[in-house]
Amino acid sequence: MHTFTFVTPGKVVCGAGAATDGRLAAEAALLGKRPLIVCGKSLAMSGMLEKIQATLPDARFHIGVPPEPTLADCTAAQGSAKRCDSIIAIGGGSVLDVAKAAALPGNIYDYFDGKLAVPESGSDALPILAVPTTAGTGSEATWVGVFTDKRGTAPKKASIRGGAMLPRTVILDATLSASCPPHVTAYSGMDAFVQAVEAFVSRGANPFTDPLALQAAFDIAEWLPSAFRDGENLEARERMLIASYQAGMALNTARLGLVHGIAHPVGARTGAAHGLLCALLLPPVIRFNLGADLDRYSDIAIGLGAPREDLAAFAEKWLDDFSIPRHLSELGLKRTDFDAIIAETLVSGSTKANPRTVHESDVREVLEACW
Ligand SMILES: [Fe+2]
Repeated sequence: MHTFTFVTPGKVVCGAGAATDGRLAAEAALLGKRPLIVCGKSLAMSGMLEKIQATLPDARFHIGVPPEPTLADCTAAQGSAKRCDSIIAIGGGSVLDVAKAAALPGNIYDYFDGKLAVPESGSDALPILAVPTTAGTGSEATWVGVFTDKRGTAPKKASIRGGAMLPRTVILDATLSASCPPHVTAYSGMDAFVQAVEAFVSRGANPFTDPLALQAAFDIAEWLPSAFRDGENLEARERMLIASYQAGMALNTARLGLVHGIAHPVGARTGAAHGLLCALLLPPVIRFNLGADLDRYSDIAIGLGAPREDLAAFAEKWLDDFSIPRHLSELGLKRTDFDAIIAETLVSGSTKANPRTVHESDVREVLEACW
């Protein structure tokens, strides 16, 4: 017997050029007349924003969302959204997350602190059209935003989630990710791979998320090396966009696991790229979870052509292939932060979805394994 909820954006439009040839504008017109475009500076610098703007003459702009965005970044975007009736989010995971926050009617700190629930879709929140420019977080497929709270003595990274944050429409246009540099392609691609794996083995996995997560993992393994080597390979870029979207569809309700439980507090302290941290943490977390006898890891290993008992070693090889650091000590993390990281990991929703119950000593062991 199953008990689950499964929800995804209502419409996906996939095709090279869809962001600039009028398809994005046509979809945006179905959501509102005065959209706010939320994007990063790189979209403006690449000249792509100008092309998109030409199809959306009534749009306003909120340009410049930093990586690992804070709650203050969300408040700024909410300010830009005043007098707009819809949101068009174009960018990587950080941009998409901030754009989701911009769509919300209430005080962002109240949502973060749990004093206010994110409303359901169709409320006075603004409808969202999402256009990913990296194949990674799958944020375009989820009702989750991950933000850093800098009010306390140590920055705290956590998520806000709810129906109104789920994009209504998604555009997947491979031409937008063609200029993504190789290291960003690798980090974000590994984030997508880890999300697919964690969603597949999660306690929240269900019959709808399983095929999406598994297919995403296989496709990322097949196409990420090509996208990394040759960014202009539009077929590889498109397959990666579709796969990371599928992983996002899966994780939205299946949730994630211990890799993400640890990656957030480490990321908040080091500022290291999220995908880099996920890639680095995956092998020791697989080794820990295999202790719970997981046939599901075998399903993944068989599909990848990896040894059934050593998927971790297979994933470790990718760190070298994509020039991803192997050690947390290389990223500016301090050992004195371990206790606080462990405490935050243990209460994270991702950790609670991990297939094997996680104790304090387990988190310490994983941290030590990649120290
Ligand atoms: Fe992630």
